[in-house]
Amino acid sequence: MSGNIFEDKIKAFKSTDEFIISENLYDERENLKFESLFALSNSYLGIRGSHEEGTKISLPYFYINGVFDKSETFMRELAALPNPLGIKFYIEKELIGIENCELIEYLRELDIKNGILWKRLVLRDRKGRETRIEGCRFASRKNEHRIGLVYNLTPVNYDGIIEVESETDGRIVNFADAPRFKVKHTKTLKNEKLSDLGGNYIEVTTRDKELHVGVGSYIEAFKEGKPVLSNRSFSAFGELSTEFADVKVKAGEAVSFIKYVGVYTENELPKDDIKQSITNDISAFIESGIFEELREHSLLYNKLWDMADIKIDCDKELNKAIRFNIFHLMSTGSAVNDNINIGAKLLTGEEYGGHAFWDTELFMLPFFAYVFPNVAKNLVSYRYKLLGAAKENALKNGYRGAQYPWESADDGTEQCPAFTIEPDGSCYRCYVADYEHHVSAAVAYGIYNYTKITGDFEFFRSKGIYILIETARFWASRCEYMEKEDRYEIRKVTGPDEWHEPVDNNVYTNYLARWNLLYVKKKLDELKNDNYGLYREVLDKTGFSDEEALGLQKIADKIYLPKMNGGNILEQFEGYFNLKDCIIEKYDENDWPIKPEILKKFTVDKTCLIKQADVVMLMYLLENEFTSEEIRDNYRYYEKRTLHGSSLSPAIYSVVGLRTGDKSKAYRYLKRAAFIDLLNLQKNTREGIHAANAGGVWQVIVFGFAGLKTDEKGELSINPNMPEGWKSLNFKLWHNKKRLSISIYGDNSYRIDEV
Ligand code: BGC
Repeated sequence: MSGNIFEDKIKAFKSTDEFIISENLYDERENLKFESLFALSNSYLGIRGSHEEGTKISLPYFYINGVFDKSETFMRELAALPNPLGIKFYIEKELIGIENCELIEYLRELDIKNGILWKRLVLRDRKGRETRIEGCRFASRKNEHRIGLVYNLTPVNYDGIIEVESETDGRIVNFADAPRFKVKHTKTLKNEKLSDLGGNYIEVTTRDKELHVGVGSYIEAFKEGKPVLSNRSFSAFGELSTEFADVKVKAGEAVSFIKYVGVYTENELPKDDIKQSITNDISAFIESGIFEELREHSLLYNKLWDMADIKIDCDKELNKAIRFNIFHLMSTGSAVNDNINIGAKLLTGEEYGGHAFWDTELFMLPFFAYVFPNVAKNLVSYRYKLLGAAKENALKNGYRGAQYPWESADDGTEQCPAFTIEPDGSCYRCYVADYEHHVSAAVAYGIYNYTKITGDFEFFRSKGIYILIETARFWASRCEYMEKEDRYEIRKVTGPDEWHEPVDNNVYTNYLARWNLLYVKKKLDELKNDNYGLYREVLDKTGFSDEEALGLQKIADKIYLPKMNGGNILEQFEGYFNLKDCIIEKYDENDWPIKPEILKKFTVDKTCLIKQADVVMLMYLLENEFTSEEIRDNYRYYEKRTLHGSSLSPAIYSVVGLRTGDKSKAYRYLKRAAFIDLLNLQKNTREGIHAANAGGVWQVIVFGFAGLKTDEKGELSINPNMPEGWKSLNFKLWHNKKRLSISIYGDNSYRIDEV
């Protein structure tokens, strides 16, 4: 107890160490990484962990999921919206900020248990005045249109006047630190007082679709429970909205500042109602109080954890890293909105523009399907809503059926840019959208997996089956018949390994296409027998015929699946075995492969070194198609040639490694995956958290070490393979509408309890 009621009230919301990720030294070069790590999201909005007073190096992005814009950039991307976090304190015109003062104490802590970002600073200015600032911020889970900030400021050794500026910054642009690509996605329409009482309000529209977004805020300050702000005055400085006020302070006496933020868009309300709704919402927020909001917010987070936590009696840092990944993933998935998906970097950074990839279906969806099925349902429904766009996309490219875009934003059109931006600011032509087609199979696989795991047959019958049929149709038209060889091939295609593009007959793509064709054929046959009425309805709606169904089988039977002569090793694509061969022999201090010397002489596409799990990914997904010897041999072969240039790779190598009996590698891969962002192992955490990897980490624990599976009939099985030193592992999931708690022990015994 500090003796200060206000302070004690906030601290009551703080979790214990195993849920705290700390930054205890401020290094401006690390700031962008921490902005990503410390981003907060409540599934509607996301805000990076930038400092309230601003710092020299910062990408202080505030996003609302689904608010995209293109303007001059390459594709529709999440628009950086007016950032409402700004709070600046001054004494006699001097900013009390971390880059302006001596840091006597510096601590920021992400409390993943409660979804709160804590801060404690003691700052000494040039005149020796010391100020303590302590408090937190959160993106409310209770009311997803709200953000709350609460900071106690205590002048340690001086009396005086603290001037405060509460800001909402509408000047922020996307690609703010890439001069060639900077782009402003919004036009500011209003910059004014929130209400007669004060506060700030900015209303913008996106530039292309003119979608209105309103951001309002109101600041208050209290000393011993009494309001103390005086001289409130509002100023609009172009697109910067500022409210100034001041407060008399005395050494040792804390003043508590509270900032209430409210946000709405035209997606939820008619545009003319946005401002009034925000004003009302902020009044209601003030009325119920910041502590009540925090209380309900943290209760809801605790509920999420009650479902999603993974408890391992092992190395505590590893358990914390696993939880960190779960935290970001579960914070972003929406249980209420199926117009949005989950971007490859969640809402934590700007890489990939907030777009959904195959990452969603194959890496994140399993977590949601088992743990938060209502979120999973929205993810698959999102694909159904965009089925029409996928069909148009196929048509545009000369195919039939549905071709899902490699990168998907709000309208289902292809959003993968034809150019990518390199770290040095240059850009190069990128062919991913032209050739990387396996996403359509991933979407189909997602439907299959979602239905199998959740048992939501109603979704399958009314929506999922249409996605499956149209994607199968796409593959049927994508496969070319080669008369001479009497086989079907998929030419000019890119597999998961994007370092060889395009290639002919990427074996991953061919197998997944084959799976899609055969699965649809099987499901239609079943439907014909079990529910002829529905079968006819599906055929009528899709214009599908019995002959077309037979055609799927014919193509699947003759699809080319290249393999090494006389051996078990699948050839990643035709001609792969003719490339310059070499293997990875050295690893750095973080157990990350060191690029072999051969890359000094040859570009990677001329070698057999690959970016990420490709054949191994295939064996992960379609395990039953291969013998355990085939899986073992392919794993051993490709593991030595994979540089894990994508974060999607280590988790898959971990699970498949385990299936081959290689426990020690599986454990090393788990560590790499779990710490990818915390240790910045891919060197790009500044661009955002790796969402697919986060889902992959969950899969390593549940499908890998716990050995959990749901078979075709929806039966659950567990076959644990606990690593050395783990005494127990516990997690929960939904199965057959029952909530199960699964505990596994060091000797691989386990128990399942309904909870
Ligand atoms: C990977 C893709 C992935 C994308 C988004 C790329 O680097 O190669 O497989 O979908 O990142 O995470």
